[in-house]
Amino acid sequence: MSSRLTVVVSMLAVCTAVTVGASMRADGDRASARDALLDDPRTMPRLRNESRARGVVEVTLTAAPATLSLAPGSPSAVYAYNGRVPGPLLEVSEGDSVIIHFRNALPEETTVHWHGLHLPFNADGSPFQPVPPGGTHDYVFRVKPGAAGTYWYHPHPHHRTAGQVARGLYGTIIVRAAKDPLPPMTERLLILSDNRLLPDGSFDFPARQTDGGRADAENGREGKLLFVNGRLMPTLEIRAGEIQRWRVINASAARIYRLSLSGHKLLHVGTDGGLFENPEEVDEILLGNGERAEFLVRGTGAPGTAVKLQSLPYDRYIPQTRPKDWQTPLDLLTLQYTDDRPVKPVSIPSKLRVIPALDTTLAKERRFIVMSQLLINGKAMDMARVDVTSSVGRTEIWEIENVVGMDHPFHLHGFQFQLLSRNGVPEKDRRWKDVVLVPKHETARFVVRFDSYAGKWMFHCHILDHEDQGMMGVLEVTPTGDAR
Ligand code: C2O
Ligand code: CU
Repeated sequence: MSSRLTVVVSMLAVCTAVTVGASMRADGDRASARDALLDDPRTMPRLRNESRARGVVEVTLTAAPATLSLAPGSPSAVYAYNGRVPGPLLEVSEGDSVIIHFRNALPEETTVHWHGLHLPFNADGSPFQPVPPGGTHDYVFRVKPGAAGTYWYHPHPHHRTAGQVARGLYGTIIVRAAKDPLPPMTERLLILSDNRLLPDGSFDFPARQTDGGRADAENGREGKLLFVNGRLMPTLEIRAGEIQRWRVINASAARIYRLSLSGHKLLHVGTDGGLFENPEEVDEILLGNGERAEFLVRGTGAPGTAVKLQSLPYDRYIPQTRPKDWQTPLDLLTLQYTDDRPVKPVSIPSKLRVIPALDTTLAKERRFIVMSQLLINGKAMDMARVDVTSSVGRTEIWEIENVVGMDHPFHLHGFQFQLLSRNGVPEKDRRWKDVVLVPKHETARFVVRFDSYAGKWMFHCHILDHEDQGMMGVLEVTPTGDAR
């Protein structure tokens, strides 16, 4: 953590402690004042815009080794973006021109993938654009109007993604709307990640031939350390009556979160590609790897009380390698109500926006994608092979079938899609997605249109260990064709 931020944080903590005075929760208040800074997109560490030009965001990002204490105990030899885990927030607006000057100061090849953004092929940071150690790459793209939402960035080198993300390379992106339909309110941006460390602070990467190594390869690597913006079990504050807007990103290699806030219903308002058309009241939200959720937390609890955000048990495993304690709910953070008297809740519009439907009658092609354990359509990834060919402007229907007894989250680069049905049951609502979790033995069908950008685009399972073992394919979109 930079010393400047530390200073700001401790000053604020002192101020809070002073104002609170005789409160018995002075220590808790100090901690939550610090947490509030790190979870609020307005005050969390961010990439500094070096451009003065209107509508231009120009930033510098470096991936380098660092030594950081991720958890109490010995510090770890991590990989970090600009010295931080998670990396600093990239905040942009719809229509902005974005230039990211990236430098790879790691001892190995890497890339930066801007997960979920619609951008030109050479800005995608896929395995097709490796940046060698000591190398640089400028990622240049324009943020699509209508793309307001929550995204994230992470490395994507062929066969090495899981290890680099586990060592600390992941960061948040917010795309701001030209006009946001939700009223202003306290916002939280929470990136979830899990890990396993050995007592000396090093990362627990068991050898492939061991039981642990085999379980990681099969399940994807999970850990008991559950990080929220890089912290274990932080405390967030809410005032009774207040409504907060939470944006949550699943950056875990393999853990799927079934989010629940005890005693509270959640107002689910958005997903990968931004807000829904209509808010939906739910008891819990299932978040697959790479997926994002936006939801409103309504402060219906009493002043001074506290609740926990948990991940409830979710069985994504085959019986042979299912962890013994999979049924234990996991605590992610504490939501502490302040002692202040309740405020009157702001009112939330019942219609958030209109999402134009992709026209399925224009679909030129119907693709069948079969996901089995570590394979897509029976094949492992080959960089020299193209698995699906299409052209710019085409609309297609993709049907993803998971034929095995383990969940696989399917992700497509470059183009967001609209889910049409799951297991033949039509979706109720139209939403922009770039990951669809396909549970064991289920199918998902979506419509996608290959707008604007030709190139080679990856599609893969977002369990990073599966992706690294080749559960990935290549879609080539050619520039010409009967575009519409
Ligand atoms: Cu978030 Cu191809 O990945
Ligand atoms: Cu998978």
